[in-house]
Amino acid sequence: MNFIKDIIGEELSIFEKKFSDSVKSQAPLLDRIMKYIIKRKGKQLRPMFVFLSAKLQAPVNESTYRAAALVELLHTATLVHDDVVDEAMERRGSFSINAIWKNKIAVLVGDYLLSKGLLLSTDNNDFEHLHILSKAVKQMSEGELLQIEKSRNLNLNEAVYFEIIKGKTASLLSSACAVGAWSTSQNADIRDKMSLFGEKIGIAFQIKDDLFDYGKEDVGKPTGNDIKEKKLTLPLIYTLNNIDKATKKELIYIIKNENTNPKKVDRVIDTVIQFGGIKYAAEQMNQYRDEALSILHEFPQNNVRDGLEKLVMYITDRKY
Ligand code: IPE
Ligand code: IPE
Ligand code: MG
Ligand code: MG
Repeated sequence: MNFIKDIIGEELSIFEKKFSDSVKSQAPLLDRIMKYIIKRKGKQLRPMFVFLSAKLQAPVNESTYRAAALVELLHTATLVHDDVVDEAMERRGSFSINAIWKNKIAVLVGDYLLSKGLLLSTDNNDFEHLHILSKAVKQMSEGELLQIEKSRNLNLNEAVYFEIIKGKTASLLSSACAVGAWSTSQNADIRDKMSLFGEKIGIAFQIKDDLFDYGKEDVGKPTGNDIKEKKLTLPLIYTLNNIDKATKKELIYIIKNENTNPKKVDRVIDTVIQFGGIKYAAEQMNQYRDEALSILHEFPQNNVRDGLEKLVMYITDRKY
């Protein structure tokens, strides 16, 4: 992603220092865990969206840096909690927090990160940022809970799938773009336009993430897990809703009763691939990507807009 360095390289390196300062703790255990988290940073896509969305309007300022830190703190908090919820032992190519320190500590670490984000905003009177991000955190919790509810009674509905991913993933990407734009423009129309842009990207992002689950490549976290967890994602939902009745019955039986049998799970995956579920999901993803791009194109062309466009393309073409 060298193109990013050319446009916001300096901002990102200043950000890294600020971010690691913002999680410092006097408590020895927390300090150790924070060092572990900082060392295994992720792709930092959300801070990138904050800076690019800001810079599309005007040069970034101190509140842009705080917005980026707030978004990444909340993102990290939700990942730490998500790995407890999903009982996932791997994150960012390393052991998850719960894998090393167990659930009790992981829950508290997630709360610590969340509170650090809130304090960063309240200490600086960034109330608009706080408002935007608080809404996103609420939507993320609702999305995650809806997902759990629907996995219990096997959600077969595309509309519900989109509602889930809008909540659990797109809301945060949407708010990243919104706070970035707000930090340099204080303009509600621009904020809302960038919020919608971010939502479309977020939906495309999560479809891509769900497609990874069907692959065998190393993406730094577990794959092949969704069916085991009875989490129905777009490729499977499409297949179940369009395949012949007998096969549908067979697949549902496997998901309900044989979801931990690798051979049977492979049977589901192969059917999804053969029936075109992967292809369909990829088409949907590209449609959301294109909708995001057309919103972006309402802004005048310059190198920042070009950078955002490339970042959008990266989201749907990425390998991890
Ligand atoms: C993972 O997001 C969580 C989802 C919404 C699927 P990322 O893939 O952006 O995570 P990191 O920060 O790069 O690890
Ligand atoms: C990611 O959800 C976490 C949130 C969006 C809150 P998933 O459970 O689907 O994603 P990964 O695969 O663990 O990153
Ligand atoms: Mg999850
Ligand atoms: Mg997970």
